[in-house]
Amino acid sequence: ADPTLALTPPMGFNNWNTTGCDINEQMIRDMADIFVSKGLKDAGYQYVNVDDCWADATRDPETGRLRNHPTRFPSGMKALADYVHARGLKFGIYTSAGTLTCAKTMPGALDHEELDAQTFADWGVDYLKYDNCNNQGRPALERYTKMRDALRKTGRPIVYSICEWGQNKPWEWGKGVGHLWRTTGDINDTWSKTVEILKLNAPLDQYAGPGHWNDPDMLEVGNGRQTTTEYQSHFALWSIMAAPLLIGADLRKIAPEHLDILRNKEIIAVNQDKLGVQGKVIHQKDGHWVFVKPLANGDKAVALFNESEVNATISTTARELGLPRSVGYTVRDLWQHKNFQSAGRVSASLPPHGTAIFRVKASQDWFTHEPAIDTSLDIA
Ligand code: DGJ
Repeated sequence: ADPTLALTPPMGFNNWNTTGCDINEQMIRDMADIFVSKGLKDAGYQYVNVDDCWADATRDPETGRLRNHPTRFPSGMKALADYVHARGLKFGIYTSAGTLTCAKTMPGALDHEELDAQTFADWGVDYLKYDNCNNQGRPALERYTKMRDALRKTGRPIVYSICEWGQNKPWEWGKGVGHLWRTTGDINDTWSKTVEILKLNAPLDQYAGPGHWNDPDMLEVGNGRQTTTEYQSHFALWSIMAAPLLIGADLRKIAPEHLDILRNKEIIAVNQDKLGVQGKVIHQKDGHWVFVKPLANGDKAVALFNESEVNATISTTARELGLPRSVGYTVRDLWQHKNFQSAGRVSASLPPHGTAIFRVKASQDWFTHEPAIDTSLDIA
């Protein structure tokens, strides 16, 4: 896989978390339109991706090719790709490295890799999510490498997402095979699942880098079963972990405060920082977490996460974050979009399940510019 296709984590949309199989072409077109009209394209979201159930149940008897589902995608996948491309966006599709996809409504690509990759390339596909269902017990590395080679043979640049659920430690072999690999089973729109996935993905930071990312699954922000505080944590934590940011909510129905989470450009800049380092956990005790992510300009991004069920003040220091010694530091709150000054402590008072996210830098002249203390965030 050509690493330059995903030098930063892919950003876009995928319908699965909101629709499951109940998908149609109008919804996908609407998402592309909303990417443009609501500023998501401008914020960096690029891929508009279709998940399982887009194809007809059988292959074309003459050519062996996959065909669009006749009622869900009556205009065909090429027309849909054209629609997405006409808006300056990219189009993604899905299949499984098995005989059938997970929903079992359409054929998978096992032993049809070259024909299916060529079909996708002919339609103008820019991103392939390759699932793991119905794999006949054949080795993952073999199955995923075969599709990589088939995609390469088409000559079309296609981002390649290994959806193997972390079963065969894809972080150990995924670099050079795909651009991203799922590290866990499926997410759902609950706080407990979000935290469970966080705990599996966070320790894998050493495996991620430009062109090869850990994928803790797509976002649930906006799907409606978690609080705004929880969705903020989900988004901030996925961002600092350099996870792909694939929106999983129906943007026609999303609440404005949840859309604002997804459009937070300062947090997206942490996720998309070109140094390409996954944030590391430097403290985790009693449900109090500190993540640090070094950024290309020397700043450190910091997330303070309160997993616990009670209010908590969580803090760290410039020294623990690996910043150089300085008379002062500028701490920028990426939710409030405000700067504060600090002599070295970075701290936040957080509700249960809350996350503060900051960008911190050493500064010599902080005392002349910024307020000394913020009442809500308790930065000493
Ligand atoms: C399992 C994957 O992990 C999900 O993200 C989704 O693609 C479903 N399969 C579709 O059947």
